[in-house]
Amino acid sequence: MTVSLVTLEHQGAVALVTLSSPNALNPLTHELMTALGNTLQMLDADNQTRAIVVTGSARAFAAGADIQAMAQMTYARAVTENFLADDWQRVSTLRKPVVAAVRGYALGGGCELAMIGDIVVAGDTAVFAQPEIKLGLLPGAGGTQRLPRAVGKSLAMEMNLTGEPITAARALAAGLVSRVVPDADVVNTALTIGESIARHSLPVLMAVKAATSRAFETSLAEGLSYERSAFHGCFALDDQREGCVAFLERRVPHFNHR
Ligand code: CAA
Repeated sequence: MTVSLVTLEHQGAVALVTLSSPNALNPLTHELMTALGNTLQMLDADNQTRAIVVTGSARAFAAGADIQAMAQMTYARAVTENFLADDWQRVSTLRKPVVAAVRGYALGGGCELAMIGDIVVAGDTAVFAQPEIKLGLLPGAGGTQRLPRAVGKSLAMEMNLTGEPITAARALAAGLVSRVVPDADVVNTALTIGESIARHSLPVLMAVKAATSRAFETSLAEGLSYERSAFHGCFALDDQREGCVAFLERRVPHFNHR
């Protein structure tokens, strides 16, 4: 019997990707990460998709990397097989907007996967942590890099050095998530945000994501220069003209995504 580790549904131009491991905690096994990477890469290349929502089960967005596999891992294999690298590269290089819809546990790689979301929506009982230190490890998929960029040094250090969890309310106050809603509303809220994104021009959405992401990777001067080039580039698009003219004609724009 083949078990589908990831399910995919479409709501207009918004894709809903659900981690559906037989273990509702969604340990991020190589098989699950491969299925997720295949699905996300396919959606990134699909012209009909303009926003992607990623969610887990009601119990857990994901409880982290596969501890079963890591208990057997050796340094030689980790280095030569480049453990975690390819799997995570494939899920973290999408050009389309991604909304992470987090219910329950987002631990270790689960928290790191949530941070791959351009926007993170959390349920009110969601729990975020980087507990790798308790396993004799450090975060290996962005916890030492994306987390401080999201919440600042002090809280990132506290989370990474103690391994202790933070609540959804604290994650909101720290800027790790953009909204906290009742658990039952998390997926619908993320889909609504996805719809509100997907009504815009796809090449401009991609440019906005790329430019905003630059803010975390370059100096201010380089980032502003990148932004200006991307802004100038919009004037090559039919959708730019349509957006501005529609505003002046007091009508809804009809974007053709070119
Ligand atoms: N990997 C593999 N299996 C896992 C797992 C994981 N990350 N998390 C839970 N499981 C398994 C448990 O071993 C258990 O399996 P069995 O039923 O076969 O014994 C099953 O899922 C249920 O787990 P619990 O009995 O522990 O469930 P609980 O409700 O008591 O606790 C939990 C839930 C708090 C999420 C707890 O399971 C937990 O702390 N999990 C580990 C979280 C963690 O340390 N994550 C970081 C992993 S390292 C990492 O992610 C590295 C990186 O940077 C990428």
